[in-house]
Amino acid sequence: RIVVLDFGSQYAQLIARRVREQNVYCQILRHDLPAERIAELAPKGIILSGGPSSVYVQDAPRCDPELFNLGVPVLGICYGMQLACEALGGKVDHTPSREYGPAKCTVHDDSLLFRGLPEQIDVWMSHGDQVSAISDVFKPLAETNTCPYAAIAHRELPIYGMQFHPEVTHTPLGGQILRNFVLDVCGCEGTWQLGDFAQAAIEQIRSLVGDARVICGLSGGVDSSVVAALLYKAIGPQLSCILVDNGLLRKDEQVMVIQEFTKHFKTDLHVVEAEDRFMETLEGISEPQEKRRRIGHAFIECFKEEAVKIKDAHFLAQGTLYPDVIESGADLDGPAATIKLHHNVGGLPEELGFELIEPLRDLFKDEVRRLGLELGLPESLVWRHPFPGPGLAVRCLGEVTREKLKVLREADSIVVNEIKAAGLYRETSQSFAVLLPVQSVGVMGDARTYDNAVAIRSVKTDDFMTADWSRLPYDLLARISTRIINEVAGINRVCYDISSKPPATIEWE
Ligand code: XMP
Repeated sequence: RIVVLDFGSQYAQLIARRVREQNVYCQILRHDLPAERIAELAPKGIILSGGPSSVYVQDAPRCDPELFNLGVPVLGICYGMQLACEALGGKVDHTPSREYGPAKCTVHDDSLLFRGLPEQIDVWMSHGDQVSAISDVFKPLAETNTCPYAAIAHRELPIYGMQFHPEVTHTPLGGQILRNFVLDVCGCEGTWQLGDFAQAAIEQIRSLVGDARVICGLSGGVDSSVVAALLYKAIGPQLSCILVDNGLLRKDEQVMVIQEFTKHFKTDLHVVEAEDRFMETLEGISEPQEKRRRIGHAFIECFKEEAVKIKDAHFLAQGTLYPDVIESGADLDGPAATIKLHHNVGGLPEELGFELIEPLRDLFKDEVRRLGLELGLPESLVWRHPFPGPGLAVRCLGEVTREKLKVLREADSIVVNEIKAAGLYRETSQSFAVLLPVQSVGVMGDARTYDNAVAIRSVKTDDFMTADWSRLPYDLLARISTRIINEVAGINRVCYDISSKPPATIEWE
C-alpha cells in the first residue's frame, strides 16, 4: 500500500483516489503519525500532501522527520515538498505573489518520476510559498518561469518533491507522474482490484458471521444496495433487510426498491410503514436542524422495533464509506482523529447490542459503484444520484406536511425524468426539486393565481464537498418548467438554482 499523510489539503482524498486508479491500495493518515507507526503499516511509499500552512511558522503541521530515514520512497507535493526540503536543509520563502493556476513546466532530468513524459508539461500550481534554496542532497528536476524548483529529487535516497499538483485534472499528465512514482519508484505491482477486494470481503464476512443473521438497512441508494449485494453473496438467506418508508421518499420509491430487491435477492425483506410516525414528529417543526434531529431519532426507533423481531440477528451492516470514516475520525490513524469527532458512524448498533459490519469502509464512492456493477447490480441502480437520509423533508422548506410532500414528489419526478430523457442524468451528479415556502402571483387562463414556487437544483461534483451548478440546456429547463407548472397543482413559478458549493450547500436545508 501507499500512505498519504494529510497536512490539511483539500486534495488529500484526490491523491488517494489517483493512486487507487493505478490499482494500488492507498490510505490517508494523520500527518503527525510517528514514523514507527508508519513503518508498522509497511507502506511501499509515502506521499506528503499539500496544505494551507507555511512551513516556517511555529505551529505548522509537521511530520515525524524520522520518516525520511525509513528507506521508504517519499513524494512531497506542494507543502509536502516544502516540508521535505526544510527537514533536509533547504529554505522555503513566501513568494511575492501567490501562484494559482496553470503553468508550463520544463523537465530537464531523466528521473524515474518523469519517465515517458515530454520535456514540457502543463501543470497546476496553487501556492503562496515556495522552495528558494535546496541543500546539496537534492537536485532540481524541473522548473517553471517563476518556480526554479518545480520538482526535485534527493541525490541518494528515493525522496522526491514537486511544487505543482499532479493529482488534479488540470495537470493532464499528473496521473502518469503518480503512476511512475507508485509503480517504478515504489515498486508497487498495481494488482489491487475490486474483484479481489470483493472476494476477500466475502470470505471475511463468512468467517465473522458463521451461521448468525445479519440485518441491513436498505434505502434504495447505491451504498446500502452494494452492502446488501456483498452480504447476499457471502451469506445468502442469512441476510435480513429493513426498508423504513418514512413518507419522505421520492415518488414510487418503495415499489421500486421492493422490485429491485426481489429481483436480486432471494431473502427476507421487512418494510416498515412509518409515514404517520414521521409526520407526527415533524408537525409544526420548521427549523432544519431540528427536523433532521427528529427524523434521525424516529428512524432509529423504527429500526430498533423491527430489528428485535428478527431472530438470531447478531450483526448490523452499514454502508459507511471511506470519506465518512476519514471525516468522522473513526480511523485512529486517520487525519480527522486530530481535528474533530463529529458524527458517530457506529451509534446505532451500539445501542442495539449488535456487532457492526462495514464492508465498504475502505472504498470511495466511485469504487463502490464499480463494485456494485461487478456484483451484478444494474447500471440504473448503481448510477442513481445520492439521496439524503432525511429525504424530501430537507427539500420541503419550512414545515413538512403530506400535501407539500405530494407536490414536491411530483415536481421532483418531472425534474429527474426530463434530465434522464435528455440523456444528462449521468452527466449531472445530483438533480432534484425543492419546494419553496414562497407564494407569488401568477396568471393561468384568465384567473389570477397565488401559488408556491419550486426551485430546480442540479449540480456536478466529484466528491460532494464542492460542487458547481449544472449548465443545463435552456430547452431542457423550459420543458421542466412548463411541465411542472402545467402538471403540478399548486405551483405557478419555477426557478433555477445557480449557486455553487461553497458558499451554498447542495441541499437547501
Ligand atoms: P450538502 O447539502 O451538505 O450535501 O452540500 C452534500 C451531500 O450530502 C447529502 N446529504 C446527506 N446525506 N444524510 C445523508 O445521508 C444527510 O443528513 C444529508 N444531508 C446532505 C446531499 O444530498 C449531498 O449529496
